[in-house]
Amino acid sequence: MKKGFFLILLFFNFLNMNAQDTTFKEISIRELQDNVVKLIGDDWMLITAGSIDSCNMMTASWGGIGNLWNTPVAFIFIRPQRYTYQFTESENYFTLTFFEEKDREILNFCGSTSGKYVNKIEKTGLIPLETEHKNVYYKQARLVIECEKVYSDFIDPQGFTTKEIPENIYPKNDFHKMYIGKILKVLVREK
Ligand SMILES: Cc1cc2nc3c(=O)[nH]c(=O)nc-3n(C[C@H](O)[C@H](O)[C@H](O)COP(=O)(O)O)c2cc1C
Repeated sequence: MKKGFFLILLFFNFLNMNAQDTTFKEISIRELQDNVVKLIGDDWMLITAGSIDSCNMMTASWGGIGNLWNTPVAFIFIRPQRYTYQFTESENYFTLTFFEEKDREILNFCGSTSGKYVNKIEKTGLIPLETEHKNVYYKQARLVIECEKVYSDFIDPQGFTTKEIPENIYPKNDFHKMYIGKILKVLVREK
């Protein structure tokens, strides 16, 4: 009995040590080496909004990073039926986290399961960490981009100048909401 208890304690110490071992270095967005189309479109990302006590995350492969209103920004697109939408609506910040190929399963899971029904942190083994603004990122992430929401609006169907996109992407008229976030902090995992 005692032995079992100590083994459990050791296991949690090991997890804790591992968490402390991981360090992130802040870089300027201008130092980012990744090709953004590949980074978002092929590698995919998690969009997370909320605090460590109450947050949700989902996989996304649409979005961008650029320069707007004289500041570096990231923009993301979320359909209103996503559970994450409730968080991007109520929160002032969101994070984008990027992972190594070995963690693809986490992205597959968070892109096919809703946080409305399961705790994705528990199911994936993601280890949440907090920024100074109390936003959530993950120990497993190789790159973190923290954003402050500065603009959001729905894609306006009247705005399309081609039929192809609305017909193919929005047959149910469930237009994405676009969020533009001012980039506050970029972290890269050192080890
Ligand atoms: C590769 C990939 C990319 C996705 N990109 C987006 C996206 O950009 N916007 C979006 O609204 N949903 C996107 N999704 C769907 C959501 O990730 C998915 O519906 C998820 O289960 C929503 O989780 P939630 O209900 O917990 O928010 C994507 C899914 C995958 C697998």
